[in-house]
Amino acid sequence: MRTETTPIVRLEDYRPSDFLIDRVELDVRLHPTQTRIVATLAIRPNPEGRPDAPLVLDGDELNLNSVALDGRVLTGEEFEASPHALTIAQPPRQPFTLTVETEVNPTANTKLMGLYRSSGNYCTQCEAEGFRRITYFLDRPDVLSVYTTRIEAERDEVPVLLGNGNLVESGAADDPNRHYAVWRDPYPKPSYLFALVGGRLGRVAKAFKTMSGREVELAIYVEPGKEDRAGYALDALERSMRWDERVFGREYDLDVFNIVAVSDFNMGAMENKGLNIFNDKYVLASPETATDMDYAHIEAIIAHEYFHNWTGNRVTCRDWFQLCLKEGLTVFRDQEFSSDERSRPVHRIAEVKTLRARQFLEDSSPLAHPVRPTQYREINNFYTATVYEKGAEIVRMLKTIIGADAFRRGMDLYFERCDGTAATVEDFLNAFADVTGRDLSHFARWYEQAGTPRVSVKGHYDEAARTYRLDFAQSTPPTPGQSTKQPMAIPVALGLVSHDGSPLSAACDRVDERGVFLFDKASDTITFAEVSPKPVPSLFRGFSAPVKVSLDLPNEELLVLLRHDTDAFNRWQAAQTVAMRLLVALSTGGSVADAEADAFSAALCSFMGSDAFTDPAFAALVITLPSEADIAQEIGKDVDPDAIHRARSAMRRRIGAGCSQHLRRFYESLADSGPYSPDAASAGRRALRNASLDLLAAADPAEGEALATAQFDSASNMTDRLASLGVLTTLPGQAREDALARFGERYRNEPLVLDKWFTLQAAIPEDETLERVKTLMQHPAFSMANPNRVRSLIGSFAMLNQVQFNRADGAGYRFLASIVLRADELNPQLAARLLTAFSTWRMMENTRRGQAEEALRSIAQKPNLSRDVGDIVSRSLD
Ligand code: ARG
Ligand code: ZN
Repeated sequence: MRTETTPIVRLEDYRPSDFLIDRVELDVRLHPTQTRIVATLAIRPNPEGRPDAPLVLDGDELNLNSVALDGRVLTGEEFEASPHALTIAQPPRQPFTLTVETEVNPTANTKLMGLYRSSGNYCTQCEAEGFRRITYFLDRPDVLSVYTTRIEAERDEVPVLLGNGNLVESGAADDPNRHYAVWRDPYPKPSYLFALVGGRLGRVAKAFKTMSGREVELAIYVEPGKEDRAGYALDALERSMRWDERVFGREYDLDVFNIVAVSDFNMGAMENKGLNIFNDKYVLASPETATDMDYAHIEAIIAHEYFHNWTGNRVTCRDWFQLCLKEGLTVFRDQEFSSDERSRPVHRIAEVKTLRARQFLEDSSPLAHPVRPTQYREINNFYTATVYEKGAEIVRMLKTIIGADAFRRGMDLYFERCDGTAATVEDFLNAFADVTGRDLSHFARWYEQAGTPRVSVKGHYDEAARTYRLDFAQSTPPTPGQSTKQPMAIPVALGLVSHDGSPLSAACDRVDERGVFLFDKASDTITFAEVSPKPVPSLFRGFSAPVKVSLDLPNEELLVLLRHDTDAFNRWQAAQTVAMRLLVALSTGGSVADAEADAFSAALCSFMGSDAFTDPAFAALVITLPSEADIAQEIGKDVDPDAIHRARSAMRRRIGAGCSQHLRRFYESLADSGPYSPDAASAGRRALRNASLDLLAAADPAEGEALATAQFDSASNMTDRLASLGVLTTLPGQAREDALARFGERYRNEPLVLDKWFTLQAAIPEDETLERVKTLMQHPAFSMANPNRVRSLIGSFAMLNQVQFNRADGAGYRFLASIVLRADELNPQLAARLLTAFSTWRMMENTRRGQAEEALRSIAQKPNLSRDVGDIVSRSLD
């Protein structure tokens, strides 16, 4: 297998670059198939490098036209060139200028890395190693240069020319049909932050004044005609900039901030300096085309990329092992922003749901890796939930442990020390160690040790002594390459709750003034004094650490928390824990007494009857059961997806029937009045109403079909229309097929809306779905070359449709394997992402496990796999 021959890059092998590049001048003549790039590089030996090292510039699929050194064209004997490297064995030992001319074909670039075309427009994606697909370079993040970019193109075909930094010059080129623009970015940056765009684009703009009074022009470029869908993103950008000034004291530093939306993009978006490039799905929104969730994602990703200007760009990463330094920290910042702009507890629950669904899953799979990996074959495979989401949890735990004030002082010190440099996780932690005087070396283990810690807790009440004792124990299961694990430093935010909700006094000197106990040994015990009567413990409030908790409390006591906990997260968690216990028992053939299930349903009813209306968004989360994938993960081995599906459907029916009065009341009273607004409160009402509809339909399909069809016909926004269609997809029959057909027709020219339609159909848990997916691949809007289309149809089938992807006959696995191989020829990153759907294969029951393994082996056997796919398939099988 090819992967065995691709080299492994190791953190321990890091050494500084032998050369530095202070200035880069690029002259790019855009052409559909023959774009010519002249790069003029001001190079000097790095005093920290090896004194007689050769100069080796990275390349990837490059065609070299010429090389000149200090103006003299080099002959074939003076350098060595291949598509993936340009080597000069004896470069000068003083500063020199290297001029390199390359040619690339943007139209043929289906990998969407480097310079490529999307809907005819030119754009770039350079993170992680795409700049080397434009010109030969020291394509590593610790080489920081100042860039000047001249872009030239046909004026009519490519009227808009954008680069990093500020526009310094533009005008007619020598050829009167052509024009040019020169962009200069004064901030030294690594090559992965380079970008350029050329195209025919519409524009919306707004002036912004920074906190120190500087004027900045904010602009968003979109497909012409879609300008009216960029307003929300522009507003989110302005709010993000204000928030970063207010909360972190960070100001923007260029005269312009440009965002360009493109329809072919491998990831969500990219933080190129002053020129963010976005997947258009995270920019474009109108009430008719976008759901409440789309609006929330747009807000979060606009903020995320903007926040990178300080955490990522001004302070960048020394090497790709430090990826979490910018990504984990920036996710933390965008989560804090969304929490401040919306409802903090509701947002926290959403974050934790994602973390568990994606990161806990990854941590328990063959692809588990530390937040700071120590080795990789293909860095693109490490843009993972672990690096991003668990990376964010580490920053949050740090803040929980040291407190908000110290956290802000530490961030200030980090920016002050590291601005303009390529930093490491150590630099980050040192700033906090220095402002607090604390030793954070144990805490640093969160970056190194993979796997989700298990924490088990037992409570003991001593009535006579009026003491309440909590015994904690922790362990972390082995992960690839790490067979033994050390105890972690786990912040446990906790409190005690009385059975009737009355205030309870309790004192414990192991719990700090913020209510946090730092649990950092294999086992530990804390005791509260003066406790009466017997309390219920509320542990890991706000999900204070990314761990799995097992708490030895009966369901009735957990449900006390649903009623009375002051911590909203734990109110939700209590209901989820009880639901999960019942669902696991039902799915694994265990017996669940009707009384137990009824008690849970009754607790939900009384919750719905109490104060749900004070926060409908929260209520919607409480009445939504754990997903089938969540249940599978909880079961962890010998998983039978059909049994899980039956159990969850039965539970939805029971709640829908048992609580039908409340659900109908919600459904009727929460109908939208007035024009659509994407704000969190309005979105929350829609969420509760639509969650109610789902449960009502589970209990009474005829009523559900009637309500959903009526809603589908009358909906005035995409959230309600799509939700009703989603409910209909759970009800086989003509009404569903009619609605699907009408939806497909209505939005036939709206690719981002058709994506939702693909997703809903791919997720139908019926045997015919695989054929439906194959048929939809023939739909005129579908294309294997567009990542959004592939992910919505095929990615959704593999990731959302537990029963059909994991069919016992293996047809789902074989289908995905064939698609992965097809995708790999066009776009290895996309193929590798799809392939991660197999990461759960080892937890399946025997038959499915065997089928999945066979499908994986069929991929592994193929010659000429990309490094991306080769790496994932070999780790999946290890
Ligand atoms: N830095 C981008 C972000 O998280 C992600 C870009 C990753 N792209 C890639 N091809 N690996 O905002
Ligand atoms: Zn990012």
